[in-house]
Amino acid sequence: MSEAITVSLGARSYDIRVGSGLLKSAGALLAPMARGPVPVVTDEHVAAKHLEPLLLSLRNAKIDARPIVLPPGEGTKSFSGLERLTSDLLKTGVDRGGVVVALGGGVVGDITGFAAAVLKRGIDFVQIPTTLLAQVDSSVGGKTAINTAEGKNLIGVFHQPRLVIADIDTLASLPRRELLAGYAEVVKYGALGDGNFFTWLEAHGAKALGGDKADLTHAVAHSCRMKADIVARDERESGERALLNLGHTFGHALEAATGYSQRLLHGEGVAVGMVLAFRLSAKLGLCSANDSDRIERYLKQAGLPARIADIPGNRPDADTLISHMMHDKKAKDGKLVFVLVHAIGQAFVTSNVSMDDVRAVLAD
Ligand code: GLY
Repeated sequence: MSEAITVSLGARSYDIRVGSGLLKSAGALLAPMARGPVPVVTDEHVAAKHLEPLLLSLRNAKIDARPIVLPPGEGTKSFSGLERLTSDLLKTGVDRGGVVVALGGGVVGDITGFAAAVLKRGIDFVQIPTTLLAQVDSSVGGKTAINTAEGKNLIGVFHQPRLVIADIDTLASLPRRELLAGYAEVVKYGALGDGNFFTWLEAHGAKALGGDKADLTHAVAHSCRMKADIVARDERESGERALLNLGHTFGHALEAATGYSQRLLHGEGVAVGMVLAFRLSAKLGLCSANDSDRIERYLKQAGLPARIADIPGNRPDADTLISHMMHDKKAKDGKLVFVLVHAIGQAFVTSNVSMDDVRAVLAD
């Protein structure tokens, strides 16, 4: 059982395969593009669970797979991490006509994509995301990056993968909290552009999160389809792609104010941020309080934080959050860019928001 979605970008178009049992088929899927040694980059946690089955599948397809195992965690996405990784990649002997595989979550995908983009002036890469967040967001669309002391993801390039293989079976071993954090991004797709999908999630989301393969495949595939369509229309985020940042202006500020710690995972910040974006939209008379309540109720019911007060520890105050927002890389010409909504499934981008209204919503 699997679905195929195409990201249509002319000569750089690629497929996203979503379904159960796909790690076993990875060899067959990769064989047409594999030439010479194929580095498989992963981290220690993912390697313990998924590396062997992947290597078996690749080797059964006569692919000369060469594992590179990185330390887990966001710290790996650094210049020193990139230096180590590019050196390890070069040592495998991969050449310009070859392909690099990223097996793991957002950290592995982001740094491997970036390394592939700069190695020998650009080598193809394949994403095999193993977290829900990576399957529905970071593995699709070609954003690659590392972090610096100045901020997250500030150094990077667009480099589209040649193929994305999202095996939903890899999600079974994720800690519940991490699965839910990724699920916030799934809910985001309904909230930003597809009210019917949001309604479907209200009815089927719990089953999908409980491991129902058909529902989970549909939730991931539909999210990927929505992202693929947006990326095809606006690859470089000059317009519509910014809709994918629904909840992120608030969410990033909350992540910064909580020190990017276990207090608030990225997806949890997006969940609270989405509710704040709906609340701000309702306050400005752009959407109904009903829709705003419905989003909040559903996120809560799914097990996600939906209010600032749901975040453990001291509550960050409105001014601290606003000052973090002003430093966000998405701020343009000193103006904050918000994704607001007319209704569930009808988001739009604006920089025409008064800080007094933002402050009032944060303080509420
Ligand atoms: N994560 C948002 C994007 O890929 O544009």
